Amino acid sequence: MALNIQHDVDLQPYNTMGVPARARELLVVDYLQELREALAYAEKNDLKVLVLGEGSNTIFTADFDGLVLLNRLQGIEVVKDTEKSVVVKVAAGEVWHDFVATCMERYWYGLENLALIPGLVGAAPMQNIGAYGVELKDSLLSVEYVEVATGRLREFDNEQCQFAYRDSIFKHELANRVVITAITLELSKLPNPNLSYPSLASALERIDDPSPQLVFDTVCWIRGRKLPLPADIPNTGSFFKNPKIDSEQHERLLQAYPDLVSFAEGDRYKVAAGWLIERAGWKHRTIGQVSVHKEQALVITNPYGASGSAVLKYAQAIQQDIVEKFQIHLEIEPQLI
Ligand code: EPU
Repeated sequence: MALNIQHDVDLQPYNTMGVPARARELLVVDYLQELREALAYAEKNDLKVLVLGEGSNTIFTADFDGLVLLNRLQGIEVVKDTEKSVVVKVAAGEVWHDFVATCMERYWYGLENLALIPGLVGAAPMQNIGAYGVELKDSLLSVEYVEVATGRLREFDNEQCQFAYRDSIFKHELANRVVITAITLELSKLPNPNLSYPSLASALERIDDPSPQLVFDTVCWIRGRKLPLPADIPNTGSFFKNPKIDSEQHERLLQAYPDLVSFAEGDRYKVAAGWLIERAGWKHRTIGQVSVHKEQALVITNPYGASGSAVLKYAQAIQQDIVEKFQIHLEIEPQLI
């Protein structure tokens, strides 16, 4: 198969932060065989490879001197169907939110809290996407991937993926060494809504036994009020992880800031990074056309297409300020290229 490779490509349309950067080469990958051939081609020509889905978690701080693969593998396949649940295999190039909406139409439950998360299915296990009390790892059975070095198709079960908060093995040992081709999930046919997240619970407090469809609609509504759609205002969702601190530091901060927003997690506390950033005054600070979102300070927006370096500079200024004000280090969530 002849590979339809494009040269010297503008990457601005291929990252949701709208950062201008160029790729030496780019290929849209629609089939597994095409992916294998592309990897062999890159190996032969000594080209670095970068796989992008929707580019919703990637910031380019420089041009990419290699081959960008746009993963567009398609397909939703029912692997097993029982009275209580369904096992579904979804290709990495499917749009995550559209897949969640399809699940709702088919009465497959478990993903309703993860509605409207930007990006494609293949990116979901990388950072173990999570929202409103649910994480991908709660329903994921396995991840299928191709090894870059050998072109071999392999599979990891849930445990092997080493999922944690916004984290997995694909961000560490396997970073740049595999291309995720599909994920397999087990979804329930019996409604079992998760209303553990405070803002979701309070939005639904007057409803007895809300249906999964209502949970889905409510999550869409809450997100719509707080989180800008990348198509409207370029962004990559939460720019920082919510930091964890020990109980001693938590106590000290609470004394200084009684309105601190935090949640106990084991013997530690997770602090709302959005609260820290808002409290530090960043909702009103724009530098080099980069700002934080007025409704959710954890989201950095780039409405005028400033460079990745300008975005990074802004993020680093926030990090420094939060260390000075609260002695907390905020870890950047999207990958920097
Ligand atoms: N808050 C503020 N000011 C802000 C933002 C938040 O004071 O500008 C406080 C409020 O008290 C709010 C609380 O922080 O009630 C929590 O805010 P929110 O419910 O928006 O959640 P979050 O912790 O800021 C996390 C995820 C989101 C996810 C929501 C809901 C991370 C890094 N982010 O945000 O994920 O949608 O919870 O579960 O964990 C993403 O990863 O891109 C993302 C949007």
